[in-house]
Amino acid sequence: MKILLLNGPNLNLLGKREPEIYGTATFEAYFADLQKRFPTVNLSYYQSNIEGHLIDKLHEVGFEWDGIILNAGAYTHTSLALGDAVAGISTPVVEVHISNVFARESVRHHSFIAPNCIGSISGFGLRSYELALKYWVDKG
Ligand code: DQA
Repeated sequence: MKILLLNGPNLNLLGKREPEIYGTATFEAYFADLQKRFPTVNLSYYQSNIEGHLIDKLHEVGFEWDGIILNAGAYTHTSLALGDAVAGISTPVVEVHISNVFARESVRHHSFIAPNCIGSISGFGLRSYELALKYWVDKG
């Protein structure tokens, strides 16, 4: 099973960025841990701060891979183009957020991604990603 974890802008700063909201672990350390804990899943990770690169990645994997776990960061709330990219591919996408976006500013309550996803997971810290991953693992 091939699953891509796709992170958008500023998520390369995890560990240093607003730790009171996003925690102190780096994504690289969390990803290495996930690979150990889910050895039967072929997990890949890609991060970009550039909207077009995220769209290119969705096009590249979005017709063959089994699943995509997408944290589009602030593009979630601004990017019709990313929403269209998710709508345009056949690989199912789960939207994730580290923080509970609904407990934050109202600008974060809207998502261009969510209507085109199987579902959304928000507010469980980095565990949001493994909850999404478990969807595919449990489904088999
Ligand atoms: C985020 C929430 C977004 O509103 C924010 O812009 C981010 C991170 C999260 O994971 O909690 O960059 O997607």
